[in-house]
Amino acid sequence: MLSKSQAKLFFLAGTAVFSMAFLALTVDSLAQVPGRSNEAAMTPAVVRGKMIWDRNNCMGCHTLLGEGAYYAPELTRVYTRRGPEWMRAFLKDPNGMFPGERRMVAYKFSDQEIADLIEFFQWIGNVDTNGFPFKPDLAPPAPAAPVGGSRLASAPSTYKTLCNACHSIEGQGGKVGPALDDLRGRYDAVTLDKWLSDPQAVKPGTAMPNLKLSPEVRKELVGWLLPTK
Ligand code: HEC
Ligand code: HEC
Repeated sequence: MLSKSQAKLFFLAGTAVFSMAFLALTVDSLAQVPGRSNEAAMTPAVVRGKMIWDRNNCMGCHTLLGEGAYYAPELTRVYTRRGPEWMRAFLKDPNGMFPGERRMVAYKFSDQEIADLIEFFQWIGNVDTNGFPFKPDLAPPAPAAPVGGSRLASAPSTYKTLCNACHSIEGQGGKVGPALDDLRGRYDAVTLDKWLSDPQAVKPGTAMPNLKLSPEVRKELVGWLLPTK
């Protein structure tokens, strides 16, 4: 049995030890914040992107760092998942990316606003979140089923999720680049493959991005874009 004074000493010493541990850990956590929050990369463009995010209440549908609503995809790692070219095309015209089944709001963002948003997503994508969001990540939304019976129905998934943001087939899709209905006659398989692997090499200054497609994906696309019959 502890005497009354021993119990008091035990209480005071215990409280002191654990308070010190608590303070030390708090200081350590706070000292790590600048490194983990990727603070150094927070440029004015990142801040402007964050303002656009707040002003438009994107959180009413999306989550960032797990905060927000669960209607639309979690966006903390969207930059790595999708890449800047895809995001630019998507934010400019979500409808082009998911024809006939648009759920994402078509904001009329200027190019500058889109660039700012992408900077913001790039920054937040580099915040050290201890591995959040955990694998398996939210699957990217399935591309909309194209309107029945069209050529698009048989398109490779790369076409539906990427090319379709900027190009159209049979009038369905984006308007950033030309329609791709009539490539046969103007392209053979070799030239088309070359174009897809490095558009700049074929046409310097072109606005068609280098999408870093693998040879297998290019082969599939070329086969579909240039059907033999
Ligand atoms: C009304 C709900 C809603 C709001 C508000 C909204 N989004 Fe979305 N967003 C969606 C949905 C739903 C998708 C999934 C694709 C689709 O169905 O169009 C999406 C997809 C996205 C994607 C692509 C994610 C991926 O990995 O495919 C990005 C980037 C995005 N939204 C950014 C934004 C930004 C930035 C804002 C605010 C300026 C915003 N969204 C506001 C509903 C919304
Ligand atoms: C971010 C938008 C964007 C995306 C994504 C995109 N393209 Fe393009 N593409 C363009 C633009 C813009 C042009 C016109 C380039 C020019 O004429 O300088 C173009 C041109 C082309 C052309 C030449 C068309 C012609 O009439 O000569 C082909 C073929 C093509 N793209 C195929 C594809 C394929 C296949 C994909 C998907 C792997 C794709 N593109 C993804 C923007 C895009």
